[in-house]
Amino acid sequence: MKLPNGPQISPLAQMVRWIANPMSFMETCAKSYGDIFTIRLDKNLPPLVMVSNPQALQQILTNDTKALEAPGDLNQVFESLVGKHSVFTLSGAEHQRQRQLLMPPFHGERMRNYSQVITDVTQKVISQYQIGKPFNIRSATQAITLRVIMQAVFGLHEGTRAEKLQQFLGELLEKASSRLLVALLYFPTLQRDFGPINFWGKHIRRQQEADQLIYEEIRERREQPHSSGTDILSLLMAARDEVGQPMTDEELRDELMTLLAAGHETTATALAWALYWIYKLPSVRQKLLQELDSLGDDPDPSIIFKLPYLNAVCSETLRIYPVGMLTFPRKVVRTPLSLGGYELEPGTVLLGSIYLTHQREDIYPEPKQFKPERFLERQFSAYEYLPFGGGARRCIGLAFAQLEMKLALAQILSSKELELVNKGEVRPKRRGLVTGPDRPIEMVVTSQRQVKSPILQTTTV
Ligand code: HEM
Repeated sequence: MKLPNGPQISPLAQMVRWIANPMSFMETCAKSYGDIFTIRLDKNLPPLVMVSNPQALQQILTNDTKALEAPGDLNQVFESLVGKHSVFTLSGAEHQRQRQLLMPPFHGERMRNYSQVITDVTQKVISQYQIGKPFNIRSATQAITLRVIMQAVFGLHEGTRAEKLQQFLGELLEKASSRLLVALLYFPTLQRDFGPINFWGKHIRRQQEADQLIYEEIRERREQPHSSGTDILSLLMAARDEVGQPMTDEELRDELMTLLAAGHETTATALAWALYWIYKLPSVRQKLLQELDSLGDDPDPSIIFKLPYLNAVCSETLRIYPVGMLTFPRKVVRTPLSLGGYELEPGTVLLGSIYLTHQREDIYPEPKQFKPERFLERQFSAYEYLPFGGGARRCIGLAFAQLEMKLALAQILSSKELELVNKGEVRPKRRGLVTGPDRPIEMVVTSQRQVKSPILQTTTV
């Protein structure tokens, strides 16, 4: 089978570069081999064909159910965190069923319920920062997104169990962002628990503590069901499959962990990047404030959601340094697939490189420049711009993440004057299985903003 060309260095050398700096590794490969190339990370892992050509991406992502599948067993790298019943790790009909169960809470009317939570939580977090005292913006945005997702999933983010769970999850995901843990995830044979002092052992124990809290919450809900609950856990507990069976505790745990993990880490990083760009580039900040200030008192969140420049800033934030640099893997099945001049045999594994696609000069002139205007000047197809992936595994939280970014930014910008402590350049680096800033971004509140009122009225949380 002839695979597209790729680097000739040993798999171990490729793995080291992949773990240490995946974005520069992908860029180097694309320079030498073009927009379809093959990398090899380990002799026990299949070669990976990376694709950043929009036509080929369209073929891959729209073909999910015919010559291509998106099997969950290729996402094993997530299994230690989210379990084997997660939408991440399931395949075929089971995967489809879980998606159907998970999607309703992220659509339509239900999204309105989250607007107030996002605004209130943002206001509460941001008001803790005192004038003149620098703070790490990633910690602030993580505090916002963790509380918001706790509220959406459990209907609570305060109380002893919720606070403990937030603490454990924060620690767990902080650890999951280390390169050592990523290396362990790619080499499952090294995942041995040698007791509480060993790195993997500590990770497992934190995980068990978080699991225990989730199981306690599920047990309590089963003993005292409140059928009118609108949080995601209530909806999942009430859901029945085609033979009338509810989800088991283990299935519930895995899906909750998936949503908690997927739902806050990514959005926290996206928000931190957005604030970095807004406060690094004065003209961006001015235009945004002009747009927000024109709304008057207490605008409807749906109006904020539709603001063109705010939308362009969020879109450009997710273009230039996408938090998810890759789509989940897809696999050629049943018949060979013609793709970009290659005949790919069944069994070939394909990854959409979101990062490389977003860096294409032909689609995004001066791709390293942050220019929200590109999103006002033209529309990009779903295969030129795909921060949330596409097809059978497209991100379930897309609308939720966009709403959260926009409302949190609107709230922060309209209530505080902020500055970056260090205006030097920040570049992206690997942060666990996703990406994030390569150094802490510190900001400082310089004053309260002198406008009539914060953009949205808050209620007590
Ligand atoms: C800025 C924030 C976010 C980004 C950039 C992002 C990005 C992505 C990407 C690239 C994928 C893979 C799609 C594919 O392979 O085609 C994905 C999948 C997923 N995301 Fe997100 N995501 C974000 C926020 C969220 C939120 C807030 C939630 C839930 C609360 C969420 C839940 C999921 C789930 C459950 C999947 C797996 C879908 C499946 O396997 O069928 N994500 N996301």
